[in-house]
Parts: sequence; structure tokens; C-alpha cells
Amino acid sequence: MTNTHNQTISVIGSGYVGVTTAAILANSGYKVFALEINTQRLETLKQGKSFFHEEYLNPLLKTAVDNGTLVATNSYEDSIPKSDIVFSCVGTPDNPDGSSNLSYVYAAAEESAKYLQKGAVYVQKSTVPVGTGEIIESILQSSDASIGYASNPEFLKEGTALIDSLWPDRVVIGGNEEKSNTFVKEVYETIIKMRQAIVKIAGINESITKSLPVTPDYIITSRNSAELIKVSANAFLALKISFANSIAKLADAAGADITEVMYGVGSDRRIGKAFLNAGRGYGGGCFPKDVKGLISSGLAHGVDLEIMQAVNNENSSMPGYILEKVNNQLTRPIANKKVAVLGAAFKAGTSDVRMSPAVRIANLLSEKMWANVSMYDPEAFTEDGADDQLNRKITIAATMEEALEGAELAVIATDWNEFKTTNPKVYAKLLSGDILVDAMNCLDRDTVVAAGLKYIGVGR
Ligand code: UDX
Repeated sequence: MTNTHNQTISVIGSGYVGVTTAAILANSGYKVFALEINTQRLETLKQGKSFFHEEYLNPLLKTAVDNGTLVATNSYEDSIPKSDIVFSCVGTPDNPDGSSNLSYVYAAAEESAKYLQKGAVYVQKSTVPVGTGEIIESILQSSDASIGYASNPEFLKEGTALIDSLWPDRVVIGGNEEKSNTFVKEVYETIIKMRQAIVKIAGINESITKSLPVTPDYIITSRNSAELIKVSANAFLALKISFANSIAKLADAAGADITEVMYGVGSDRRIGKAFLNAGRGYGGGCFPKDVKGLISSGLAHGVDLEIMQAVNNENSSMPGYILEKVNNQLTRPIANKKVAVLGAAFKAGTSDVRMSPAVRIANLLSEKMWANVSMYDPEAFTEDGADDQLNRKITIAATMEEALEGAELAVIATDWNEFKTTNPKVYAKLLSGDILVDAMNCLDRDTVVAAGLKYIGVGR
């Protein structure tokens, strides 16, 4: 595919959002520069591959790199002056006090400001606290007032990143200038127009796309509102999860089943069933950071968001709560005994282990219960440094069977299909003990019990 729109776009930062954005744009007829300063990530990208696992992504990268529509580079000088639009997708890690570290955001804007062409539009995709755009805009316009600016937060989920990006529920564009907003909107309209071609290259099965929204809602707002929409949406989803987890504790104590309770609750159309699955809590690169970031941003404006502090506390308590339940069921100690933890990624479908409660569970088993943990994940350990946060005593198994063989108990800590579709009789046969902990509430309790195992879920 050639550059049919004759427009060039730079995407700064090749993380989960940046790589996905660049892959889609480079297959939508744009010439795309993917700017990345990490040499290892850059080299991987140059080969048309992603450094993380995400379904459908590699075929898009390979096609675009081979066609020359995607060029990975570490040079602002070679890419920004040629770009009509720049999407900044750099990381916003949290500071030790929970506030967002915006040094990469500002550095990218400052470096870009040196090279942006007249009338170019700079788009901030990374999640930033409300008010950040005002500073970015002043950095950009201090050298050239014709540079446009818009906040265009990204809502994709890891594990379904391509589907989410090609069929978004909504596209939020927040700029204080109509021209820039329209420019950004046109990019999305182009992607939607090119969707069928992208689906073919990516190898997406069209049957799974039938119920998805044909066109997104375009929500045009002020710059500050767009920034606040993004953090509030993530905070609200995190709140739903923590709400379900706190009711799960009550269900445990009172003898109810949280999956039945939340099905009933979520059946009210005003509430909705999504994000009410109780379990070991949320992790990943967004929710933990965004909840803390919102608390901190509130305080900076003199607003105490106590409700988000409660969400954070509830979430942190879940791994320990589950292990407490396990402890109460043990008939013999597990110190120095083998236990299996299945799953390390923060959710199924990704290799990402950032802030993963599965890792927390494994570490607690190792450090507080002195178990010999054998951990298995189908994707996580393909990523460099994935085991950095694991206690050194934890061993990584090459297969699920290897992790389970002879273990006193098994914890399903990530809801990978491989674990859900394994017949509980297989778990029963491989384990030496009889406890199966379903930290994701993703198994059928009765089938587990029928296989002769003790089932420990969350709120069941
Ligand atoms: C999230 C937002 O969903 C997305 O819109 C935003 O752009 C980035 O942050 P992501 O972190 O990729 O996406 O994954 P998500 O599917 O939202 O899951 C986050 C965590 O919540 C995972 O650890 C998941 O296991 C957990 N979760 C999710 C629950 O514990 N229960 C649920 O009901 C749903």
C-alpha cells in the first residue's frame, strides 16, 4: 500500500499504545515514522515485529515495514519535520508519591517543537493529568504559534488492542481549536474507511467483528475535558472492579456466590455487567497508575478523592485476602512444598506483567508462606525482564503440566484459555494435593468439585 493520503504521521514512543497506533496508521495509507529511543525495541520494530505479545499486531507491522510505510527511527530530526501530525504515545510512569511522571511527555514535546513544520498538529495520546495539555501547548507554540494541539486519549485494552482500535466505542478529541480537532477526526475516519483492508492483513476473523460499533461516537471537547474523560473512565472501571471485590468478601462471609450476585446486579442496563468480575484485582500499566494519578491530581487541585483511595486499598488487599482463604483451608503446611501458580500476566491475551496481581500472589506464597513456587505463563516470560519482579526463589516452568506436577495446590492467577479449558480432572491427576484456587473466578466450581478437588474462588 502506498501513502494514498500523502500525509506523514510520526508516532512518538513504541510502547503498547504507540506500536498499535503506528501499525494501524501505516496500513491506512499514511507514511508513518515510529520514534523510539530504546535500541532493543527499535531493532525489533525495524524487523516488523513487536516487543510484546498482542494478537494480529505482527502481520500489520511486517506488511508496513516491508512496504516502507512504517519506518522505525530514533531521530526526531529525520521524522518530525516531515510530519503533518504527531501522536505522542510516550510512557507516563508514576512517581513514588503516586503522581504522574510527565518528564517523557514534556521532553517529547520540547524535542518536537524544534522540528515541527508550520501548521502541523501535535496530538497527546498518553494518559496525563488534567491540565497537562495547557503546558504542552505552550511548549509547542512558544516557537511557532501555528502548531495545533489536541488531546486524544487512547482507550484500547491490551489483549484486544487491534479490535478496540479498529472498532472504538468513541473517539475523544479535545482541542481548543476547531482546525486541529477536524484534522485528528479525519485520521480516524480514514482508519474506519480502511478497516476492511486492515482486517485482511491482520488476519482478523470477520465473524468476531459483527456486533462491534460500525462508527464510533466522535466526542469533541475542550482540551481539559478530554484529559479528564480518560482518567475518569479508567478510574470508574477500576471502581467497578473494587466494588465487586468488596461485595465478594461479603458474599464469602454470608454464603452467597458473587458471580450470581454481579450477574443480577449488572443485568440492570443502567449498571451493565462489564468489569464486575471479582477476583485477585486489577493490574497492568493503566488502572493502578491512573487511580493513584487521579488521587494525586485531585489533591493538587485541593480535592480529596477519598473514593479512589478506597478503590486502591481494596485492590491491594485482594492477593492477601485470597491467600488468607487458602490458609484457612490447608490441612497441612505448604512451607518448602511445591505450589503451582498458573499465569503471571496482568490479564489474559498479553505478555505484560506490570503491576500484575498474579506476580503478587506468587511472591506472597514464596515470601510469606515459604512455598516453593513453580510459575507458568504462556506468553509473559517471552518478554525480556518479565521475571524481574519475581522473588528469586520462584522457578519458571516451561509448561503448565511441569508447574502442576506434584504440587500441593494450584492457583489460577490469570484467566488464560489454556487454564479455563483444561479439564479439572487433569489438575486433579497432576497435583499431589487437592486444592485448586480460582483467583479469577473463571472455572466452573461444580466441575472442579466433581473432579475431587477443593475449590477456592473469590466470593463463592
Ligand atoms: C485499561 C482500560 O480498559 C482501557 O480502556 C485503557 O485504555 C487502558 O487501561 P487494560 O489495562 O489493557 O485496559 O486492561 P483491562 O481489560 O481494562 O483490565 C485491567 C485489569 O482489570 C486486569 O488486571 C483485569 O484482569 C482486571 N479486571 C477486569 C478484573 O479484575 N475484573 C473485571 O471485571 C475486569
